[in-house]
Amino acid sequence: MLKKFKGTSIYTVLRSFYLTIKVFLNFQYDLVRYLKYSTTLNCKTQQQYLARIIAIYHVIEKGLSMPKTRTGFGSAIALDLIKYIEQYSKLKYDLNNKHIHSAYKILSTYYKNLESNSQHAFMIQSFLSKKPAEQANIDGGCTEVKREYIISQLNQGFEKLANVRHSIRNFSNKDVPLSIIKKAITIAQRSPSVCNRQATRVHLIQEPDILKSILELQNGNRGFGHLINKLFIISTDIAFFDGAGERNQSFVDAGMFAMSLIHALLDMEIGSIPLNWAVEKSRDIQLRNLIGIPPNENIVMLIGIGYLKETTKITVSLRNDLESILSIS
Ligand SMILES: Cc1cc2nc3c(=O)[nH]c(=O)nc-3n(C[C@H](O)[C@H](O)[C@H](O)COP(=O)(O)O)c2cc1C
Repeated sequence: MLKKFKGTSIYTVLRSFYLTIKVFLNFQYDLVRYLKYSTTLNCKTQQQYLARIIAIYHVIEKGLSMPKTRTGFGSAIALDLIKYIEQYSKLKYDLNNKHIHSAYKILSTYYKNLESNSQHAFMIQSFLSKKPAEQANIDGGCTEVKREYIISQLNQGFEKLANVRHSIRNFSNKDVPLSIIKKAITIAQRSPSVCNRQATRVHLIQEPDILKSILELQNGNRGFGHLINKLFIISTDIAFFDGAGERNQSFVDAGMFAMSLIHALLDMEIGSIPLNWAVEKSRDIQLRNLIGIPPNENIVMLIGIGYLKETTKITVSLRNDLESILSIS
């Protein structure tokens, strides 16, 4: 029907209107599913409970792996974790799930770091006294890795490299040279991108005051941000995307790029910590204003980097069983 107006200004207006509605309805489709299935409004299903429990136990796990662990850190978080596990149990969800066991293990380690006569410690102890029989070799908490071991695993095939890639939250103070950074970015540029549009952009932050100001806006580097040597802001230029179907494409392309960058850096013995940019509008604008990131770029994530120390504490970060994530048709 639009065709008969082709070439006229009315055609341009109607076409823009039609495409805007289409983009709007498709974002609405995402919006409705997000509200319905994420834990924003509800925490009812087993998956939703597990998601909350993993997110909370990870905060404790992270606290335990900090360069300097504060005695009694995260007391409200530990109680929150207990609350969720109790509700999960009341709903008769599977207490044999690996993540529940991991949560108990992390709480037990956390408890050992507490001053045992506090009210808080008493509550945790009473919860732990009812814990189900422990699963053998369950992962959880934190452990130490040696730089020497990580380096020995590089250049030995991708599986070994991927297995020694950990989020690093304790860096040495040795400066990462720009030449290595440029090389890693060039390698990451080999990542596939939709129609080879290569919309990912990297903003490198090396000036200490700017780096500090950016990390103050980021929610997830407390206790170790000051040790980050350099920071990447990974973004994508929306100008490279088109129509309703590509509305989320920029995040996919940047995510693939970021993962390649992390592996490329590790291959050159540089550790990294991916940092979320899960922020609301006002924070996003603050960061843009701070270093002049234009509005046509989506800020996808940050990555902190630095050389590894001799020994580093890392979170164990339990992985799901293969069967629970693989479906074959
Ligand atoms: C997009 C993204 C954002 C992340 N944000 C943070 C963060 O803000 N702070 C942090 O300490 N870790 C962050 N992480 C690291 C995860 O906690 C970590 O990847 C996970 O626990 C698995 O551990 P591993 O990377 O050592 O295997 C982030 C990871 C990703 C992929």
